[in-house]
Amino acid sequence: MSDIEERLQELERLGLARRLRLVSGPQGPTVLIDGKPVLLLCSNNYLGLADHPRVREAAADAAMRWGVGAGASRLVSGTMTIHRRLEERLAAFKGSQACLLFGSGYLANIGVIGALAGRGDAIFSDELNHASIVDGCRLSRAEVIVYRHRDVEHLEWSLRRHGSGRDGAARRLIVTDSVFSMDGDVAPLAEIAELADVHDARVMVDEAHATGNLGPGGRGAVAEAGLSDEIDVVVGTLGKALGSYGAYACASAEMVRYLINTARSLIYSTAPSPPAVAGALAALELLRERPHRVQRLRSNARVLRRALAREGFPVADLEMQIVPLIVGDERDAMRLCQEAIERGVFAQAIRPPTVAAGSSRLRLTAMASHTASELQMAASVFGDAARKLGIDPASLTPALGEHEPVLDGREMAYTELTAYAHDPSSEDDASAATPFDVESDSESDGESPPTAPVPAMASAPFDVERELDSARAA
Ligand SMILES: Cc1ncc(COP(=O)(O)O)c(C=O)c1O
Repeated sequence: MSDIEERLQELERLGLARRLRLVSGPQGPTVLIDGKPVLLLCSNNYLGLADHPRVREAAADAAMRWGVGAGASRLVSGTMTIHRRLEERLAAFKGSQACLLFGSGYLANIGVIGALAGRGDAIFSDELNHASIVDGCRLSRAEVIVYRHRDVEHLEWSLRRHGSGRDGAARRLIVTDSVFSMDGDVAPLAEIAELADVHDARVMVDEAHATGNLGPGGRGAVAEAGLSDEIDVVVGTLGKALGSYGAYACASAEMVRYLINTARSLIYSTAPSPPAVAGALAALELLRERPHRVQRLRSNARVLRRALAREGFPVADLEMQIVPLIVGDERDAMRLCQEAIERGVFAQAIRPPTVAAGSSRLRLTAMASHTASELQMAASVFGDAARKLGIDPASLTPALGEHEPVLDGREMAYTELTAYAHDPSSEDDASAATPFDVESDSESDGESPPTAPVPAMASAPFDVERELDSARAA
């Protein structure tokens, strides 16, 4: 038996094997999963823009006007007028001087972190940060100090212990999600910004799950906290509330110039595709024109949460769209997921290593495009499914955002901080560290006009019957 087969069998034994589920139809409230219609309750299409007719049309139009691929990295010939336009709009939306598009949120995080910290520097990272931040920390070769989740006292203690940027020694970077992806709770951004100021550290915030839900008009948690001028780099993805694919880093003009010269995942990767950029641009316009979508998402989150609470699940009466049902055991989480699918509702089970062992969960997400009755139906499906499996909804572990963090032990001496092991095999490739020259980035007007009229768009609402027919035919 090969080592790979052995590893796969081990994952099966541990209840950790993963497989891809086939979804037919756009990410609307209803999709087909493996040919069966279900209510979709785990998509990050929070505002329902990924399948909005105007967003689809904009992407199709861009494909006709600019082509499908950008054809090169941003620094070679891949920066097109559509990229520049979205960067300007995102900077205005987020209240920053400048903005830089990346291929994805994962790429943005590893690129920005690697640009702001390297060997000899220190990164302070919340223990529940997204994997792309964790990987960015690992790749940077900086010393990584993981502070307890949302624990500003622990962060302060860590900053005190790890040199001072003012001494001219190491650079220091604090990095955090603003809304945490698996728990839906919010980082203490004001305290973090204050600590950064006192301890001369830079701050990078990942707004992947806050954009479109928090802040004025969905501008995010940084804007909500009034910190747009305090945070050095605000990263966000276009792949969630903005309904497309790609990502951005908003910062000062100087910082963006620096990232253009140093962020390796920008320099060495193809620019985002014009249809994806145009789709996000249309989504952003829709969000600016009709910010009521944000309110709809928030009130839907509350409807879902109240209905789940009525079923006995330990969820709080909040307006956060991410609602974790923490079952604990990996297999129980999978069984609950499967039982709910049988009953017509889909929320994927999330297991280690995405979450800590023993905290496997269904991560439910409300969308602005759900109706209240769909969300209420979903809650009763989860209640019934859990009870059928012998799981008492009230016995589930409340998620972190559902109450204040546990303070026990703060007065005790902190144990030695965890630092990620550096992988010696990733040691330097000096030549690759040299930045490219920046090509002229003056905006040209030279794109060809569309070569053919944009075809009539498939903007009709998702037709479950039609999709079922084609799934059966397949
Ligand atoms: C907090 C956070 N940051 C970054 C990412 C990565 O973004 P993308 O999907 O655009 O790579 C995700 C999600 O996938 C996320 O949840």
